[in-house]
Amino acid sequence: MIFPFEIFFPNTPGGNANFYKINRSVVSDGDYLKILGLVGSYRKLGNTEVLVREALMSAKEMGAEIEMLRLTDLNIKPCKGCMACVFKNSDCKIEDDANFFFSKLFEADGIILGSPIYIFGPAGIVKMIIDRFLQISTKSQKLANKAGAIIAVGGAPGAEGTIMPGLASFFMFLGIPIVDQMLVYSHGPGEILLHEDAVEKANQIGRELVEALQNDQAKTKYIENSSVCPICHQNFLVLRNGVLECGLCHIKASPKIKNGKLILEFGKTMLKKGEEIQEEIAEHIENLSETGAKYLKLKDEIDKRKEKYKNFTIKEANPQSVDKGN
Ligand SMILES: Cc1cc2nc3c(=O)[nH]c(=O)nc-3n(C[C@H](O)[C@H](O)[C@H](O)COP(=O)(O)O)c2cc1C
Repeated sequence: MIFPFEIFFPNTPGGNANFYKINRSVVSDGDYLKILGLVGSYRKLGNTEVLVREALMSAKEMGAEIEMLRLTDLNIKPCKGCMACVFKNSDCKIEDDANFFFSKLFEADGIILGSPIYIFGPAGIVKMIIDRFLQISTKSQKLANKAGAIIAVGGAPGAEGTIMPGLASFFMFLGIPIVDQMLVYSHGPGEILLHEDAVEKANQIGRELVEALQNDQAKTKYIENSSVCPICHQNFLVLRNGVLECGLCHIKASPKIKNGKLILEFGKTMLKKGEEIQEEIAEHIENLSETGAKYLKLKDEIDKRKEKYKNFTIKEANPQSVDKGN
């Protein structure tokens, strides 16, 4: 039987043992690994959910405690960009379910992030949550020793857009290594179940995530010449000042032509360890807090320049301004 969809397992992260050094010893009695499955689709038993469930079920078979969280069950509001969490180290004032989500994230050892592709990228709820990560970026001790995996489902190959780097950014920003990932295609809710390869891959993801957490060094191999970034395992490249580099990790890539095909080599010398990436993120956050002091010094001048925009009235469209009567 020919299935009306294709399947794609992006270069399965083998990764580099240094990056995947997770300081966790083999699970002992009474200390079960906790695996949290996040579902970014509203569809119950839709393609994302069944694959996340499959991964969780195999994690359970490996002896892990499992839990599933539908992101669409959460009330998550947009980040207001007030920066109080960074500048003042204060708790986020937004009242929603973000803290509940973070408590689940901190509790988990392994996180499986599942999302459908919605308009060339992750479902909006996934990005809404990622946008709230600034407030936990300073809590690196609560994020240490975790590992993640990605399950992405699209309708048809060719419209995946930024799904993989979008989902990888969830883990990369938190300094959590990605131990495996998959991107598969199917339209109808649960239709992916007809594709045994996809189900088997999801099962493998659950297994590998537990194995990665059980072993001090996750089952990973550095894939040379695989044209994916050795850190985030994506082929999401940007051209910066004439040099190709990973858009998430800034690892430089050398393009080579082999057998008429473009191959990207990520030199081992450019390879950074996961801890270094985490340090970089921490440094970035620290720099962010400095931007607060810098801003305050420049505020008078900025306010002066804002006057021009304040004084020019532009009709603002918002639902409250709609004349409901006529
Ligand atoms: C609003 C919306 C936008 C979509 N956009 C894309 C897209 O850009 N690319 C793609 O491959 N599939 C797209 N799809 C198809 C879904 O990714 C696909 O049906 C997937 O299997 C849904 O997973 P689910 O059953 O877990 O919700 C879209 C579906 C919806 C509802």
